[in-house]
Amino acid sequence: ENKIYSFKIVIIGESSVGKSSLLLRFHKNQFSNKCEPTIGASHVQKTINTFDKQFQLLIWDTAGQEQYHSLAPMYYRGARGALVVYDQTVRESFNKAKKWVDELKTQVSQNVRIVLCANKSDLENKNVDIEEVKTYCEENEMLLFQTSAKTGENVHEAFMGLIKLLPNK
Ligand code: GTP
Ligand code: MG
Repeated sequence: ENKIYSFKIVIIGESSVGKSSLLLRFHKNQFSNKCEPTIGASHVQKTINTFDKQFQLLIWDTAGQEQYHSLAPMYYRGARGALVVYDQTVRESFNKAKKWVDELKTQVSQNVRIVLCANKSDLENKNVDIEEVKTYCEENEMLLFQTSAKTGENVHEAFMGLIKLLPNK
């Protein structure tokens, strides 16, 4: 089958949780210790052949800094899927992730496919109980991946997990 599936997906979450770093890892297999905060948003286009299908992804990387929050709807509008990201060392970033999930469901669609990334899994000082997160994801029918943009752990898996959830019939 030659059909190309085009989807917009968005990466969202509090500032400095590692959204741009996850995208950089996925897109170029690179990591930088001094990744600058995103201004507004940026995007990459990526073609992926998987599950016997061709996917053309438009991936929007949003800015987490509070002053950009009002811009977010411009970037998540029309998105079919989202990677919502928090930093496992920052409790507040998980609370924020849950707020983003609520906002996506009310503002985009109840049907938007969401994968939660518990990022910075390489760091020791975890401040969020992963069991609580697992329960939350089960209750909200979301996939959970413990990722590290630094080591690359689960980054590909998280994006592929999201792609697999996208409607492709
Ligand atoms: P905004 O653009 O402001 O919303 O931030 P962001 O979510 O895009 O975060 P960014 O990717 O810029 O990463 C913030 C900082 O965390 C940078 O110094 C990264 O190097 C670091 N970082 C990102 N991911 C990881 C990770 O998995 N492990 C570790 N140890 N550091 C990470
Ligand atoms: Mg960024």
